[in-house]
Amino acid sequence: MEHALIISKLTKRFSIQERSLIALQDIDLSVVEGEFITIIGPSGCGKSTLLRCIAGFEPPTTGFVQVEGQEVDSPGIDRMMVFQGLDQLFPWLSALENIAFALRVTRTARGAAKSRALARDYINLVGLRGYEDFYPHQLSGGMKQRVAIARALSVQPKILLMDEPFGSLDAFTRKALQEELTSIWQKTRVTVLFVTHNIEEAIVQGDRIIAMSPQPGRILSVIDNPILRPRTPDSPEFPEIWEALHRLLGIQKGPAAGVLRPPQRAFEEIETPHLVAT
Ligand SMILES: Nc1ncnc2c1ncn2[C@@H]1O[C@H](COP(=O)(O)OP(=O)(O)OP(=O)(O)O)[C@@H](O)[C@H]1O
Ligand SMILES: [Mg+2]
Repeated sequence: MEHALIISKLTKRFSIQERSLIALQDIDLSVVEGEFITIIGPSGCGKSTLLRCIAGFEPPTTGFVQVEGQEVDSPGIDRMMVFQGLDQLFPWLSALENIAFALRVTRTARGAAKSRALARDYINLVGLRGYEDFYPHQLSGGMKQRVAIARALSVQPKILLMDEPFGSLDAFTRKALQEELTSIWQKTRVTVLFVTHNIEEAIVQGDRIIAMSPQPGRILSVIDNPILRPRTPDSPEFPEIWEALHRLLGIQKGPAAGVLRPPQRAFEEIETPHLVAT
């Protein structure tokens, strides 16, 4: 099978005043075309930075990212990103126009009629038939995320990069969208890298689950998910993976189990050893 993505020895440093911060260290990862990968790790471990390096928004400090054999050196429509925020749509465009606009500027479809027709197909794909003419402020949070997913997929990327796309949604909407995303992925077979803070979501969605260390982010483990789709927490193998991820990520089990909390320290990390003087 072909590799959609190869990440080799990727390290990312950021310079802040006279110091440099190591966000990612020695990341090696190969992703086969059509895989659904979930990435989980504590806040600040570099998950968004990793997606940004793949998207071409950030250059790696050392190492490289290759998509279908080509080294990534800039953003491109072969790698589309969906974010957590519910404000990623153009507020002055309807749901349909948000997608049609992306199709026009990327020249995926030529002409207004063709882009609107294709946009309609993607609206249908994400289950929003009837909401074409609604503006973002007239849509629920879950609907906005559906439009954002439809817009990203409409330009037919090779890789869909999802940075906690359901993180701002309530538990019911999150579950519905997880199922929806699985069904969309089964139809399109796009390669997905999906960042989450939620252990259940990582297990339910990921064919492979990447667990990352606290900053500087390294890959602690890559778990091959043995649970067959459709996955639920009732699957017999679920508790074992759940336990393994808790152990790897060093999470205490309790009322908030399953959700990784952000660290309580914001500036302390400036004193930690991964910050080195440049
Ligand atoms: N442009 C930047 N300049 C300087 N430092 C940055 C920049 N972007 C990210 N960082 C730092 O890199 C580290 C990783 O940040 P990143 O946003 O990738 O973490 P994350 O795992 O996505 O966290 P969260 O789960 O909270 O979203 C953090 O210490 C952050 O301060
Ligand atoms: Mg992030």
